[in-house]
Amino acid sequence: MKKTFLGGLVIILSVGVLSSMGVCDEPAISEATSECLECHAMQHPGIVKDWRDSRHAQITPGQAIAVKGLGRKVSSRSVPKELSDAAVGCAECHLLRPDQHADTFDHNGYNVHVVVSPQDCAVCHGEESAQYQKNIMSHAHKNLAGNDLYRQLKTSIIGKTHRTGARLSYREADSATKADSCFYCHGTRLRVSGTRIRDTELAGEMEFPVIEGWPNQGVGRINLDGSMGSCSACHTRHTFSIAVAREPYTCKECHVGPDVPAFPVYAASKHGNIHSTLRKDWNFTTVPWTVGKDFAAPTCATCHVSLLVNPDGEEIVARTHQMNNRLPWRIYGLIYTHPHPLSPDTTIIRNKDGQPLPTDLNGGYAAKFLIGTEEMKQRTTEMQKVCAGCHDSSWVTGHWEKFEQVIQATDAELRTATGLMQEIWEKGLAEGLEKGKNPFDEAIEKKWHLNWLFYANSIRFTSAMAGGGDYGVFAGGRYQLSMGIAEMQEWYNLRWKPDHGK
Ligand code: HEC
Ligand code: HEC
Ligand code: HEC
Ligand code: HEC
Ligand code: HEC
Ligand code: HEC
Ligand code: HEC
Ligand code: HEC
Repeated sequence: MKKTFLGGLVIILSVGVLSSMGVCDEPAISEATSECLECHAMQHPGIVKDWRDSRHAQITPGQAIAVKGLGRKVSSRSVPKELSDAAVGCAECHLLRPDQHADTFDHNGYNVHVVVSPQDCAVCHGEESAQYQKNIMSHAHKNLAGNDLYRQLKTSIIGKTHRTGARLSYREADSATKADSCFYCHGTRLRVSGTRIRDTELAGEMEFPVIEGWPNQGVGRINLDGSMGSCSACHTRHTFSIAVAREPYTCKECHVGPDVPAFPVYAASKHGNIHSTLRKDWNFTTVPWTVGKDFAAPTCATCHVSLLVNPDGEEIVARTHQMNNRLPWRIYGLIYTHPHPLSPDTTIIRNKDGQPLPTDLNGGYAAKFLIGTEEMKQRTTEMQKVCAGCHDSSWVTGHWEKFEQVIQATDAELRTATGLMQEIWEKGLAEGLEKGKNPFDEAIEKKWHLNWLFYANSIRFTSAMAGGGDYGVFAGGRYQLSMGIAEMQEWYNLRWKPDHGK
């Protein structure tokens, strides 16, 4: 018979341990978890130390759920009775919902699974998990792998280069390359391909599942219970520390490249400067987070995720794992700026030309798939509530008006670049969508997408999150964009002479 973690409780008494929640004793540890600890404290002292330092080891779900007001961390209305009175230990996570996980294996008589999924966390953190499903991040694997145009963009960057005569073409990349590049951030699709017996020093031969696509902690990973995402993208195991999630370095892992330069822009901004100088005196662990007490300038989390209160404890904005409910615009241009998509599943979008893009090549919106002006207003207000904790309303509206003009002006430049590209395709100097070919893989096409993917994005991010500065001009912004368009024109002129041509 399988053992379960209902088996019983081993009460570990401790004297004088006062946690920050005012709980006097360390909580009981379930029998199952104490068995895990017996081996794993030796096998993985790093994991066990992290877990011991985490909130999960310091308070039971039952005690946590009794916390009143905004400081409550367990959002589910109730937690199964058998989980309520012991610490959240190894067994409480790795034994959850065993029938749902393809990687469940018999481990010393317990049905253990390796990959603890957002649906497992949802047992106690229901609200965060449900909100995260509305965040584009949870769909990041699918949004890339399930969109034919984005797949072609991917292949033109990571595919195997193949030469025939004077032409280069790209073939599908191997799975390790994919997992190591695009899907490192977007998340892989996990699959159990069998089992393997390993001879362990501690316990002799043991059988484990072999999981393809793992390890990976991409934000839209497809898990072995069918769920999407990985909470550990931001909540590193096994501390699951809120302080880690609130630091900008956590987001930097994925939001740093010239196509998505949120971190470098932030680091160079006034907000980033103040953070790097004063952060040692800030409090990154209190919940809720008090503006004007715990910190003096925002991090990524402050503007995009956090629950914020004023020094009287009154709510300024609610926490959101959906995040896009504070974002009216999608400034990551595909290829132009556009109102945010209605659904986090962007594979359903079709523009007027039937392409799976939120804008058409002339700049028109695929409006049916995007949020309307009312929703945009609401989301703007939500983001501006954050600013209002530290800035005057005239500062905030001034910033916002400038930002919206800058994204329009940048899109106008891209219209010029894309107009050039369309003419180049029309004249047969490159082969794009009309010919049923990859529109991203030739040298001139790469020059074209550099303009929107790197330079225009850099200008938009700089305007949104710093109010201007070098990343919008010489460090990969307007200077490079204007140069990029000039080079496209030059390339075209050298090959197409309307006066002498034909
Ligand atoms: C008898 C000792 C022992 C006990 C008891 C034990 N484990 Fe393990 N566990 C191991 C060893 C040994 C490994 C392999 C470590 C390695 O290869 O690095 C392992 C590996 C794992 C893995 C990783 C599996 C993989 O694919 O690599 C997980 C997850 C795990 N254990 C969870 C648990 C949980 C949860 C419990 C308690 C319910 C538990 N273990 C109890 C010894 C034990
Ligand atoms: C709050 C839930 C939670 C608790 C408690 C928990 N784990 Fe995990 N564990 C996870 C998550 C999440 C992952 C990462 C899976 C992923 O995303 O790939 C993980 C991964 C692991 C892995 C594989 C990762 C690696 O680096 O090898 C092992 C082994 C493991 N846990 C053992 C343990 C042990 C032992 C304990 C108890 C001390 C424990 N876990 C407690 C959620 C938990
Ligand atoms: C069985 C219930 C349970 C499960 C399952 C669970 N948690 Fe928790 N979680 C808790 C409790 C209890 C706390 C501590 C609450 C407190 O301090 O008041 C907590 C706290 C947290 C915190 C806040 C930590 C801090 O430093 O303030 C994070 C983040 C978190 N959990 C993430 C996760 C993630 C991610 C998973 C899934 C991998 C998960 N939890 C699974 C019960 C659970
Ligand atoms: C370092 C992390 C990282 C890597 C690696 C990465 N991306 Fe992304 N990707 C992002 C981020 C972050 C965003 C969202 C940016 C935003 O919304 O501002 C994104 C968004 C996208 C989108 C928009 C999808 C949609 O519909 O919402 C596409 C397409 C895309 N990436 C393609 C790729 C391709 C192709 C590769 C590999 C050549 C790749 N990405 C590699 C982080 C990454
Ligand atoms: C492991 C990589 C990774 C990490 C870490 C990460 N992101 Fe992302 N993020 C992505 C990818 C990939 C996308 C785009 C997915 C797509 O377009 O399909 C994205 C999209 C977003 C979006 C757009 C969401 C939407 O629904 O429109 C926001 C906002 C965002 N990230 C903020 C953050 C913040 C804030 C942090 C840190 C607290 C962070 N991200 C950490 C990879 C990551
Ligand atoms: C893109 C980064 C990111 C991802 C992915 C993410 N979170 Fe969070 N999470 C955060 C940030 C940032 C905070 C801090 C919010 C605040 O300051 O109020 C947070 C806070 C939390 C808290 C603490 C709540 C409290 O009151 O202390 C819990 C619980 C939590 N997240 C659970 C989850 C779960 C479950 C998942 C997966 C479904 C998840 N998170 C995925 C960034 C993320
Ligand atoms: C001062 C507040 C603030 C800070 C700090 C901040 N952001 Fe932003 N962020 C914004 C605003 C405002 C926008 C643009 C709003 C919009 O697109 O509608 C934005 C846009 C974004 C987007 C584009 C979303 C999309 O759908 O295209 C991503 C991704 C993002 N931020 C991530 C980050 C990351 C990562 C950090 C930290 C390195 C960060 N932000 C710091 C305010 C902030
Ligand atoms: C926690 C407080 C805090 C929050 C929240 C905050 N800011 Fe700031 N911000 C500051 C401080 C402090 C400065 C530096 C003022 C100075 O230079 O003297 C600053 C500077 C700026 C600057 C730099 C201007 C320049 O010329 O250097 C811009 C732009 C800005 N904030 C916009 C915003 C926007 C937009 C939001 C909301 C999306 C926001 N801030 C949210 C505290 C905050």
